[in-house]
Amino acid sequence: NMTSKLLWASFILATLTFATPLSLHPDQQKVLLVSFDGFRWDYLYKVPTPHFHYVMKYGVHVKQVTNIFITKTYPNFYTLVTGLFAESHGIVSNDMFDPILNKSFSLDHMNIYDSEFWEEATPIWITNQRAGHTSGAAMWPGTDVKIHKSFPTHYMPYNESVSFEDRVDKIIEWFTSKEPINLGLLYWEDPDDMGHHLGPDSPLMGPVISDIDNKLGYLIKMLKKANLWNTLNLIITSDHGMTQCSENRIIELDQYLDKDHYILIDQSPVAAILPKEGKFDEVYEALAHAHPNLTVYKKEEIPERWHYRHNDRIQPIIAVADEGWYILQNKSDDFLLGSHGYDNALPEMHPMFLAHGPAFRNNFTKESMNSTDLYPLLCHLLNITAMPHNGSFQNVQDLLNSATPRTTPYMKSTTFLHGSIKPKEYEQEESYAYFIGVSLGSIIVIVFFVIFIKHLIHSQIPDLQDMQAEIAQPLLHA
Ligand SMILES: *[C@@H]1O[C@H](CO)[C@@H](O)[C@H](O)[C@H]1NC(C)=O
Ligand SMILES: *[C@@H]1O[C@H](CO)[C@@H](O)[C@H](O)[C@H]1NC(C)=O
Ligand SMILES: *[C@@H]1O[C@H](CO)[C@@H](O)[C@H](O)[C@H]1NC(C)=O
Ligand SMILES: *[C@@H]1O[C@H](CO)[C@@H](O)[C@H](O)[C@H]1NC(C)=O
Ligand SMILES: *[C@@H]1O[C@H](CO)[C@@H](O)[C@H](O)[C@H]1NC(C)=O
Ligand SMILES: *[C@@H]1O[C@H](CO)[C@@H](O)[C@H](O)[C@H]1NC(C)=O
Ligand SMILES: *[C@@H]1O[C@H](CO)[C@@H](O)[C@H](O)[C@H]1NC(C)=O
Ligand SMILES: *[C@@H]1O[C@H](CO)[C@@H](O)[C@H](O)[C@H]1NC(C)=O
Ligand SMILES: [Zn+2]
Repeated sequence: NMTSKLLWASFILATLTFATPLSLHPDQQKVLLVSFDGFRWDYLYKVPTPHFHYVMKYGVHVKQVTNIFITKTYPNFYTLVTGLFAESHGIVSNDMFDPILNKSFSLDHMNIYDSEFWEEATPIWITNQRAGHTSGAAMWPGTDVKIHKSFPTHYMPYNESVSFEDRVDKIIEWFTSKEPINLGLLYWEDPDDMGHHLGPDSPLMGPVISDIDNKLGYLIKMLKKANLWNTLNLIITSDHGMTQCSENRIIELDQYLDKDHYILIDQSPVAAILPKEGKFDEVYEALAHAHPNLTVYKKEEIPERWHYRHNDRIQPIIAVADEGWYILQNKSDDFLLGSHGYDNALPEMHPMFLAHGPAFRNNFTKESMNSTDLYPLLCHLLNITAMPHNGSFQNVQDLLNSATPRTTPYMKSTTFLHGSIKPKEYEQEESYAYFIGVSLGSIIVIVFFVIFIKHLIHSQIPDLQDMQAEIAQPLLHA
């Protein structure tokens, strides 16, 4: 009869009304890229890391990530957001000299704000913004530098004293604001800092890694609280690993070279040497066979696989230490127990890589990837056109949920309508979906009853029509 048809129509309408905001805008894929500096891939197994393992279990994990040479912080961070090798993005080290610009760049003195050093490439936040989106960065290296006349839409000026929690809170604020960002970049200094001071083999690194795991726990908690956990694509990675050094493995340049014959642009483990005028041969010869654990290259002889030749900021001679060896000019210079920067083929130089979100597969492990591949993956998720780069989207496409290509909407919200509420073993992961399912169900039932009662009242006591409309209205809008 008429009433039941109307009821069904109302039911379907109500369902659609309440389901619509849940079928998340497909064109609004959100990405949060997080880096814990110097988090070596195997730190995941050094002590219990339940939060990292939680992400792995419900997301993807890449066991071996080949980062770029040199395996230092700034070169690798710029690779993550450009997909380029160091020779192509121009940030060839943490300490550089550009002979054309006649300018220096130095992380030690935070002398990194000269735009010209960064402008051989265009980082992803700028490309994202040029495509009409907005980005937010919490201390990610380079995000407080003006590059091609722009900054990220939102960013925090670098200040290492700002807590992880404050950085997370800012990122969440930007993702949930009226004009939400689609790309967030979050950086934390550890375990790199402690890794340098303690050495990665120190038992004291255990608590340092546990602390990072707790920080990830805080991030997950806050993402869940903001209802972002199941809707944004979270990628957690790092720039490089760390290896143990020792005072017994020091290469002292003063023993082989006359200090007046060269300028040491970058020290260890890849000494960047600028010989003074007319001193090239003398410096090269003196160093070439100086130490069995030091390999010396003329710029044009640097191995092809490092893609570390074609840039003016790469000095005429580089001397690369074997893993665990430390280059000093003289023994009174600073020495650290942990170091990185070595050959990027060495497993200890490799970072970890995990991801979770609607675009990523569930409980999926991949053997290996190149860190240059992250950039095209990010561009795909953000639906922006990638700039020329050295990565390959195809090589990492298998990380993605093939059932959810970027052009189709995120469908999860429809599944609970079919009553596929998961049992308890799905733990917290499903609790958000469960909660929505239950809420949605309850709302539908309430709406159904309201409409049902409305019909009863309507058919039986037409006089109360006005009054009943007032009662029903607030409920329908709840
Ligand atoms: C991707 O971006 C293009 C414009 O560059 C737009 O036409 C298209 O709708 C977007 N696709 C999605 C799924 O957002
Ligand atoms: C390079 O800059 C230094 C000062 O930083 C200056 O003394 C020197 O003359 C400059 N060299 C050239 C070739 O301009
Ligand atoms: C850096 O952050 C700390 C902690 O929030 C704050 O006390 C300090 O004033 C900040 N420094 C600068 C230069 O903003
Ligand atoms: C250092 O050099 C010695 C002698 O060539 C070699 O046996 C050793 O393996 C080297 N150390 C490393 C870490 O490569
Ligand atoms: C070591 O080098 C520093 C500067 O690099 C210099 O001040 C110091 O005198 C040197 N020490 C020795 C023993 O040569
Ligand atoms: C994840 O996958 C592994 C095998 O790859 C399987 O043994 C494990 O039970 C899976 N875990 C979950 C929670 O699905
Ligand atoms: C990494 O890139 C190189 C080419 O630069 C390629 O030969 C190799 O297969 C890539 N590795 C992975 C795991 O995709
Ligand atoms: C890396 O990509 C840049 C930009 O497309 C290109 O100029 C460069 O030749 C590439 N490097 C290699 C080794 O393919
Ligand atoms: Zn470091």
